[in-house]
Amino acid sequence: MNTTTSPVKAVKKSKQEPIISLKNVAKTYHSSNIEIKALSDINLDIMPGDYLSISGPSGCGKSTLLSLLGLLDSPTNGEYFIQNVDTHNLSMDQQAELRNLHIGFVFQSFNLIDELSIFDNVALPLTYREETLTQSEIEQRVTQALAQVEMEHRKSHKPNQLSGGQQQRVAIARALAGQPSILLVDEPTGNLDSKNGDAVMDILNNLNKQGTTICMVTHDVRYAGHASKQIHLLDGKVIESSLAQEDMMNNANSPINQSAQAAV
Ligand SMILES: Nc1ncnc2c1ncn2[C@@H]1O[C@H](COP(=O)(O)OP(=O)(O)OP(=O)(O)O)[C@@H](O)[C@H]1O
Ligand SMILES: [Mg+2]
Repeated sequence: MNTTTSPVKAVKKSKQEPIISLKNVAKTYHSSNIEIKALSDINLDIMPGDYLSISGPSGCGKSTLLSLLGLLDSPTNGEYFIQNVDTHNLSMDQQAELRNLHIGFVFQSFNLIDELSIFDNVALPLTYREETLTQSEIEQRVTQALAQVEMEHRKSHKPNQLSGGQQQRVAIARALAGQPSILLVDEPTGNLDSKNGDAVMDILNNLNKQGTTICMVTHDVRYAGHASKQIHLLDGKVIESSLAQEDMMNNANSPINQSAQAAV
């Protein structure tokens, strides 16, 4: 790719601006003459350091939204910006570059490779990146990521020698090793019992406290409550959002509103 024209290189980084911004996003699937409106009218800003949960009943569009956020699919309508880059009209290569740079995925099924050690599982995505990392840089990143999820001591083991919760922690380390701008997490506790689920949630909470931006899809109301911002979907639409409440609070505190209130 010609790096001088790469939109990824043109990114202007700022702490104050959203990592991800969706404006009036919709996603419609067409299959065998049936139209399914999976998402409509989605407006969402994810700021650095946010911990956002997306919840709602089965089929409401949670995974569809996460795959749009992760550039695994494109919206049918609306705009999607990631670190100020408009993703519309990007080539597949440019999308992959943005995805590799900014997004870390954690799925319900851990997707670890049984034949590889824990260390090699975490290292594998780093070897696919466009920027080449030296072996010692890879080792440093993998060791640090495994330490963040307290799994460094099991780096020589194989995935099938670990519990489900431990495997999920390794999957989180694999996402962290890429040093993403945001972790996108889809039902991280879906395959876990409550004890292992709680342990994985503790890891996510701690990562967020240390500054990792997280967007998590979950069925579980209890786990959604761990996030500092929450949106609830129904039939592809946002029916409740703590972001809207936050906006109202901010507006209520704005000088314009205060003077309006003072005038009453
Ligand atoms: N590739 C596809 N083709 C057609 N329809 C799809 C496709 N993917 C998803 N859908 C439909 O879009 C809607 C939203 O699906 P989605 O997978 O986003 O739901 P979800 O909220 O993640 O559900 P769950 O909690 O069961 O995982 C559903 O009606 C689903 O059947
Ligand atoms: Mg889903």
